[in-house]
Amino acid sequence: IKIALFFGGRSAEHEISLLSARSIYTAFDKKKYDIFPVAIDKKGFFINLEKSKKILLSDKKQVPASANKSILTKELLEFLELKVDLVFPVLHGPFGEDGKIQGFLETLDINYIGCDLSSSAVGMDKAFMKQIFAYNNIPQAEFEIFNKSDLEKKSKKEVFASFSAKFGIPFFVKPANMGSSIGINQVKDFKSFVKALAEGFKYDLKLIIEENIAARELESAVLATNTGIKVSTAGEIISENDFYDYQAKYEDQKTKLIIPAPVSPTTAAKIKEISINAFQAIGALGLSRLDFFVDEEKEVILVNEINTMPGFTKFSMYPLLFKDMGISFSEILDSLVKISLK
Ligand code: DAL
Ligand code: MG
Repeated sequence: IKIALFFGGRSAEHEISLLSARSIYTAFDKKKYDIFPVAIDKKGFFINLEKSKKILLSDKKQVPASANKSILTKELLEFLELKVDLVFPVLHGPFGEDGKIQGFLETLDINYIGCDLSSSAVGMDKAFMKQIFAYNNIPQAEFEIFNKSDLEKKSKKEVFASFSAKFGIPFFVKPANMGSSIGINQVKDFKSFVKALAEGFKYDLKLIIEENIAARELESAVLATNTGIKVSTAGEIISENDFYDYQAKYEDQKTKLIIPAPVSPTTAAKIKEISINAFQAIGALGLSRLDFFVDEEKEVILVNEINTMPGFTKFSMYPLLFKDMGISFSEILDSLVKISLK
């Protein structure tokens, strides 16, 4: 079976994609599969297969920029001539996890692993995700959607006053479309609000304003298989930062992952149930990771978000959660391949 691994890409999570793709490449059973790494640079240009493999097997942090000026290059044709059975788009964030590459592959009639165009788009866009979750009674934090154009009607001072009255302090400002906590800020006063808006709008014209939930952060992994949906036991993140931000996710050696999370059987069962409901609510396919806020004393279990192409770095929960259930990384991949081949 010939599988192309797309990695890198245009989003701010480019660097994370490289780390995920390296872990996935290593975990694929090479006796069963021919793996073809396909690097995509930060402008979205395809890199030729020989170079792509070298980049993946190196310790480069980024895909070096292609010299090409056009997206329809011989590199793309070279990839198409491979006639792979399946593409694994190991791309996080916009242009990889948001349905765009999925739509591109569907247009070319190429099978791929994971969520389709619409479920990827809904999963990536926190505004759409939250609205779909609300419609499906998935418990979540209070939020509001804030568009850049809203600033034409009200001053930042007025907006800040209304959000702090509604959500209390601190509250969160998040770009609707982004991952790995990039562009997310916890707002404590007007000054940090102004900064948070500027940073959020760097990534999107649409922001999510969200109440701060002081609770434990848990995650579960969902894997669709030919025999039904599997949900992992939940794992817990212990971070010393204000929240589980980019630094805590990938750079801070102090962040701890506890698997399984020490919670009551009732809480564990509820997390599983909500995970499946949320997965199905967006019409997800293949895989996703669900992130939760949990406070057992207050009986609070809220979904923070769904990630349709979860990280597979060595700091990432997804493969570790299934490992705890006796499902190895290569078994996860076998299962994803099986369900994705038409
Ligand atoms: N967005 C990152 C890769 C994650 O959810 O793991
Ligand atoms: Mg995310």
